[in-house]
Amino acid sequence: MNFVIAIDGPAAAGKGTIAVKLAKKFNFGYLDTGLLYRAVASKSLNEGVKPEEAALTLTQSDLSRENLRDPNISKEASRVAVISEVRSCLKSFQMDFSKKSGGVILDGRDIGTVICPNADIKLFICATVEVRALRRYKELVARGVKTDLQKVFEDIIRRDEMDSKRDHSPLRKASDAILVDTSSLSIKQAIIRVEKLVEQALKKK
Ligand code: CDP
Repeated sequence: MNFVIAIDGPAAAGKGTIAVKLAKKFNFGYLDTGLLYRAVASKSLNEGVKPEEAALTLTQSDLSRENLRDPNISKEASRVAVISEVRSCLKSFQMDFSKKSGGVILDGRDIGTVICPNADIKLFICATVEVRALRRYKELVARGVKTDLQKVFEDIIRRDEMDSKRDHSPLRKASDAILVDTSSLSIKQAIIRVEKLVEQALKKK
């Protein structure tokens, strides 16, 4: 059996938190595809190589590089994600992961549209930019990163724009994806809603 959950949505919408909880509850594999773009960005910046070369030579250990979740890497990840050679390099790894037996969850920007167009369930997680900025700000502060809310807000707007306006695999909701607006939901409420949707999809399988 192969059961695929595709989760997409804009920056800091809560995709990762939801995916981790789902993976635990259903005992599914999980691939955070944003981490691949972050690793390419970090490798390119720190080793002074072109993003295309960083993507081509990416190894498992690059996914454990330090500070992959820092704001400068987030920004750079959105920049390298525009490059079609980078996306092509990362595509086969993501597709191979999605074909593993059992249940798998992938989250990102183009999972339901490009990587797993035949996913068993597609979720598009969104929230207002104000809510997302506040969540990301709190996350960064909790990790000891010095920043301010206005800067986080502006960075998110800039990244959303880059992600949705690029030519190659832009961020967009697949026509058959279920929209989950978490603006007025606690993370617990969002997870309960999503778990119900997954249970329904599993019954249909
Ligand atoms: O955690 P956050 O939502 O801020 O970002 P992420 O999911 O870690 O993704 C970082 C960046 O990688 C995004 O802003 C996108 O530019 C890029 N990305 C992408 O283009 N396609 C994906 N499937 C996943 C991430």
